[in-house]
Amino acid sequence: MADIKKIGVLTSGGDAPGMNAAIRAVVRTAEYNGLQVMGIRRGYNGLINGDIFEMNARSVADTLQHGGTILQTARCDEFREPEGVRRAAEVAKIFGLEGLVVIGGDGSFRGARDLSEHGISTIGIPATIDNDIGCTEYCIGFDTAMNTAMEAIDKIRDTATSHARSSVIEVMGRDAGYIALNVAISCGAESIVIPEKEFNFDEDVLRPIIEGRHRGKKHYLVILAEGVGSAIPLAEEIQTRTGIRTTATVLGHIQRGGSPSVHDRVNASTMGFKAVETLLAGRKNRLIVMQNNKIVDIDMEEGFKQTKQISQDDIRMCEVLAW
Ligand code: F6P
Repeated sequence: MADIKKIGVLTSGGDAPGMNAAIRAVVRTAEYNGLQVMGIRRGYNGLINGDIFEMNARSVADTLQHGGTILQTARCDEFREPEGVRRAAEVAKIFGLEGLVVIGGDGSFRGARDLSEHGISTIGIPATIDNDIGCTEYCIGFDTAMNTAMEAIDKIRDTATSHARSSVIEVMGRDAGYIALNVAISCGAESIVIPEKEFNFDEDVLRPIIEGRHRGKKHYLVILAEGVGSAIPLAEEIQTRTGIRTTATVLGHIQRGGSPSVHDRVNASTMGFKAVETLLAGRKNRLIVMQNNKIVDIDMEEGFKQTKQISQDDIRMCEVLAW
């Protein structure tokens, strides 16, 4: 067991549903084991500016069912510079923080690694709706975001079917198509446009719509990942080329909010619990990740080197099932 008495917890980068469940698990596991826990507001900004307060089991009551993050979050430019990291490490030491749990995405973990070079034991928990962190099969928030998008698209489909229209729906994901591919499968989309697959307008979008119409289809859903382009010009092009009225919907930040799903709550709780157990066991500079469907801790530097690929089989299956 490590001789550690005080830790901090922060959320950084874009918020994700389930972050509160992770914070709650960190705070309660720490307190249960006799550690003092400090909450840091607005990510690394709060660390640099000393916006730090003591938390306990009661300060995280009634939080796990809510979206967003009770600690608030930010992307911190100052922390990208060595001077910002040095300042943050100094503040961490003033507050007596021996360990730090960082809940966020890839960029947040690189910040954690920089801090660890100043002697602070850091643990990263992956949280981003984009699910684009190479070393983990799952990131907190991904499941809820997909469910939110799916529910919205089901509604769009009702009206698209009634009018035999085409609909282009743009979903989030930054440079990755994980949300797009999964909601396309779950909503029965005719076509998916994602960064991981080369895109040919005539072949990938027009052909499924025109052939689908000949086979008696009543709606044509195109799921577009934001990393490829925008819904409005794509919808205009479809309407011009097919004569079918085509609407464009950008789901936007609705995908990032809302009450976390069971999957996100359970995994976020497990990851928060494991983060503190890892620190207590004396393991430092680790990432808590899902690999082979199990939540485990891995070396941070090793994690940075790992990559993952979207399933080409799933892309093909989505196309076949749209028949
Ligand atoms: O990384 C999460 C995410 O929601 C991306 O899907 C999206 O591209 C980005 O954040 C939006 O960032 P912001 O809320 O800062 O505009």
